[in-house]
Amino acid sequence: MREETLLTPQRIAAKTTFLDWDTQPSLFKHYPHFCYRIKLSDFPSLQWLKHTRCITDERSVGQKPYYRLNIPSAGNLHPIEIYVQLRNIAGALSGIYHLDILKGELVMITEIAGEGIEPFLGLEHRFNGALLMMSLVPFRSSWKYGLRAWRYLYLDLGHQIGILGASVEHFGLTLTKMSPREGLNTIMGIGDDEVIAAVYGIGESTSRSVKPLYKPLMRVQPTDYTEHNKKLQTSIRSVSIYTDLPVFTQYEDFLKLNTTRRSAREFDASLMRDEVIVELLNQPPPAGIEIVAIVLQAQSMHLGVYRSGECAVKGNFVSECVRLLLDQRFIAGANMVLLIYSENFCASSHIEAGVYAQNLYMACEHYNIGCSGIGAFYDEEGSDYSTNPLIYAVAVGGKR
Ligand SMILES: Cc1cc2nc3c(=O)[nH]c(=O)nc-3n(C[C@H](O)[C@H](O)[C@H](O)COP(=O)(O)O)c2cc1C
Repeated sequence: MREETLLTPQRIAAKTTFLDWDTQPSLFKHYPHFCYRIKLSDFPSLQWLKHTRCITDERSVGQKPYYRLNIPSAGNLHPIEIYVQLRNIAGALSGIYHLDILKGELVMITEIAGEGIEPFLGLEHRFNGALLMMSLVPFRSSWKYGLRAWRYLYLDLGHQIGILGASVEHFGLTLTKMSPREGLNTIMGIGDDEVIAAVYGIGESTSRSVKPLYKPLMRVQPTDYTEHNKKLQTSIRSVSIYTDLPVFTQYEDFLKLNTTRRSAREFDASLMRDEVIVELLNQPPPAGIEIVAIVLQAQSMHLGVYRSGECAVKGNFVSECVRLLLDQRFIAGANMVLLIYSENFCASSHIEAGVYAQNLYMACEHYNIGCSGIGAFYDEEGSDYSTNPLIYAVAVGGKR
């Protein structure tokens, strides 16, 4: 999908359409009003789920509500939904639920007993606790970004997986790897406009046998309307469900960081110390991911291009960086831009870049530093710094 989703100066210049925000597809999936619901805040054992995906800021823009979540998302479009099967959770009916973050509720789609989703996740026995499924809703993102949305969907998913891992561990639990089987989307009632993209267990397997759910769950459209983008849908449907466990740093103040985190819109370079730049430079990337850091402003360290924590080329790269990142002017005020390259251009490398960037967001918030994921860049100019394809960037700088 790299060639089809390239950003070049010619493509930007040719894009004359302007975006009518009144046509934005709905941001949240709604199950019917008659479904049974439980308030997440009533279940201490489910607080990890509440903090995995929640609204952390609500305001009004153009007389419409504008929500922001604990995780960042390209264009604030949030093309992800979460479902959980709960079994044997004290006080909750065992069943398959949709997470309604607008109301902070779990909406029951079906009750379960001796049957469940387990056989579709490669489990032969009942799983006590939660089986969590994340889906992608491509149109929420392609509505604005067209085919380029392919990249943002998987980067967004990586951010979401990273915070799931951090939240689960914060509450003393662990993620279990699953082995999803054919037919998961169908049994979950997921139609063409949505696709299950990642699954994890939070709990433990029992010795009690389980039967597969015998009929698909009700089907609800994830957006109020949709437009088909065949190429995008075909490509996303061909990607295997992601099951790898995320690697992240745990912070004691996770709950605060997760609530206060925002993407920076301006920077004050005088407010970031060199020690923090060095600390962030030394965050180890996952296998297959290469980080090239460009230090733009610092107190006494060398400005220039850093590889593996060492300055490889000294110089002032502010204008090159701003240009590379599609002339987004606020980046000129950043202390550093981390360019994330991958040996392979594929969905899983984008997910892993998203997990890595989510770690950076948490580290920055911990040090009271601003940062923003940057998915808009000229792909070809990204090759000035590596032979690998550039897949994501993060601008970091003093918080104004
Ligand atoms: C994959 C991805 C790409 C992004 N690309 C850009 C970008 O190119 N420029 C930018 O200013 N912000 C970018 N952002 C930040 C989003 O605009 C921001 O997350 C969103 O507006 C929600 O705001 P919040 O992060 O403060 O909740 C990106 C975020 C993600 C996750």
